[in-house]
Amino acid sequence: MKLNWAELLVVNNPLRVFEQRFEIGWMKKHARLSPAGSFLEIGCGRGAGASIIREEFSPAFLCATDLDPMMMKRAVRYLDEPDRQGIFFCAADALRLPLRDSVFDAVFGFGVLHHVPDWQGALAEIARVLKPGGTYFLEELYPSLYQNFITRHILLHPEENRFTSPELKEALDSAGFSVAASLEVKFAGILAVLQKVS
Ligand SMILES: C[S@@+](CC[C@H](N)C(=O)[O-])C[C@H]1O[C@@H](n2cnc3c(N)ncnc32)[C@H](O)[C@@H]1O
Repeated sequence: MKLNWAELLVVNNPLRVFEQRFEIGWMKKHARLSPAGSFLEIGCGRGAGASIIREEFSPAFLCATDLDPMMMKRAVRYLDEPDRQGIFFCAADALRLPLRDSVFDAVFGFGVLHHVPDWQGALAEIARVLKPGGTYFLEELYPSLYQNFITRHILLHPEENRFTSPELKEALDSAGFSVAASLEVKFAGILAVLQKVS
């Protein structure tokens, strides 16, 4: 689901970049990744996260995708030429990634799953494109934060098939991920480093 005006304000601001820098720094501390790997970001928005991922991990290949083709245009406007170098931007639905099986060493998703009506399907796609032993970096929010009595009138999200902490963890387990590290505020959201087991 594409973002409405309010959420565009929430994600396209300097505070969000600061938050993502902290999160990617934390993820880096908890993951063992070879710098020569192939990385994917789903739901990349205007590309601020992809640029930080490139800085922090120097991957051999970095593909940044988003459902909304407008985000690709935003990324070109937001990132200077040197910041965009080495990042391959492509419009793609996380439910149908136009990518082969088992090709990525790492997949990143910042605040994306809770925008996808069939988020379990997106998890299956992430597992499909990751190599066995690959790493999934996840940042997610729970409904009490984005669908409470105030935010439900301002933000736009799918209303059915939502996940709280136990449902997300169960689905991650069913999709073949084990938790290597996590930082969670039970009612608000989670930051996690996961390993594809099989
Ligand atoms: C809350 S924004 C997060 C943007 C960016 N990752 C960040 O953290 O600033 C969610 C992003 O996911 C994208 N998105 C929503 N549904 C998607 C889907 N099915 N496949 C891929 N991207 C999707 C939206 O267009 C939006 O850019």
